[in-house]
Amino acid sequence: MEIKSVILAAGKGTRMKSNTPKVLHKIMDKPLVGYVLDNVKGLANESYVIVGHHAEEVSEYVMKNYTCAKTVLQTPQLGTGHAVSMVCPYLENFDGLVLILYGDTPLITETTLKKFVEYHISCGSDLTVMSAIFDDPTNYGRIIREEDNSLKCIVEEKDASPEQKAVKEINAGIYCLDWKKIKPAFSQLTSNNTQGEYYLTDIIFWGKQQKLNVNAYILENNEEIYGINSRQNLAEAAKLMNTRKLNTLMDSGVTIVDPSSTWISDDTEIGQDTIVYPSTYIEGKNKIGQNCKIGPCAHLRGGVEVDDNCKIGNFVEVKKAKIGHNTNAGHLSYIGDSVLGSHVNIGAGTITANFNPINNVKSQTVLGDNVKIGSNTVLVAPVEVKEGANIGAGSVVTKNIPAWALGLTRAPLRIIENWVKGNSN
Ligand code: UD1
Ligand code: CA
Repeated sequence: MEIKSVILAAGKGTRMKSNTPKVLHKIMDKPLVGYVLDNVKGLANESYVIVGHHAEEVSEYVMKNYTCAKTVLQTPQLGTGHAVSMVCPYLENFDGLVLILYGDTPLITETTLKKFVEYHISCGSDLTVMSAIFDDPTNYGRIIREEDNSLKCIVEEKDASPEQKAVKEINAGIYCLDWKKIKPAFSQLTSNNTQGEYYLTDIIFWGKQQKLNVNAYILENNEEIYGINSRQNLAEAAKLMNTRKLNTLMDSGVTIVDPSSTWISDDTEIGQDTIVYPSTYIEGKNKIGQNCKIGPCAHLRGGVEVDDNCKIGNFVEVKKAKIGHNTNAGHLSYIGDSVLGSHVNIGAGTITANFNPINNVKSQTVLGDNVKIGSNTVLVAPVEVKEGANIGAGSVVTKNIPAWALGLTRAPLRIIENWVKGNSN
């Protein structure tokens, strides 16, 4: 069945105290809403992101990075039910499932969403809401059930009676709708509640009244609906996500020497028997092969592809680079916008000068197989060092170097005998 997703991202996010819209705050270089979009991508062929506060910035990010997403403006923001109703004109003839999520819950996984949709389908459900059991349900909408345990409605904290407040089953804010059947609800929602908002949660009660099949799916791992409202939440979510990633990598055969000081983005793949040493930070999208040694204190900034048996050592920063197998960059180097062959050795302190600040242009450095770069070399891009060539230590390479040649720039070493003694009195 065709699935479309609706991602709510119009809210203000006051508690972030920021000029950046909440859903564009980043975890490991990817905005929160990006995680949500990536996690629904495998299920929904199209996503509608509801934007309001900072609509332009959010839209720009979404349109630029997700071809399968559209943004829909919600002004003013009259509540979650009102937000979803914004997609009605776009889905007039749609006959499939609509999956609703929030843009500020980046930890939800594709696996859980798949299970959720499968549950919806297997129950023959018309409307399924995700719920969770919280020891402290404060501030969440409570799931109110009938005596026979079937769903009755959702009551918001602010509208709840003391008895309802004691309920520990909460609304996780993720819904699966049989669109054709639930769509009429959106023209019938009212704002007769404490907050004067059009509550999305009211579709549960509406569905029951219409004698539709309404169900709740209880989430197994509560961490997945961790929502971000503050900078502290952001840091906590980043940590949760990182721990999850490191565990997955370790389970697949990667050694993480010190998980407490290592950060690896969700979009990084690492091959078996690679060892990641402490204080390494790997952000963005990267692919690292098998039997590599990364770190300690390495920084991979995205767009990095490292083939098998490589070493990216301490204080080496790599960005947008393709590195062939058995290549080493052991110490204190910067490799950006580069293509390195196999069996290349990068001496300590080598820099690819990829950026020209005069014209703002970034250029590429290309090193052939078996190239050896002496320590403290500056490779001024665009530049190519062809197969097997050597560069002498301390060189500034501004011209292409032919295969198997030696490239060298060096001020002659002067030795002045007894200079120290002569100057010391
Ligand atoms: C909502 C639910 C509550 C649930 C909780 C889970 C309702 C009425 N309540 O409460 O039952 O337990 O989420 O986290 O749905 N948004 C818009 N447009 C709006 C209003 C909100 O896009 O007009 C977006 C926000 O940006 C946010 C999400 O919807 O991403 C949730 O809104 P929020 O106001 O935080 O809902 P809660 O009060 O937390
Ligand atoms: Ca919230």
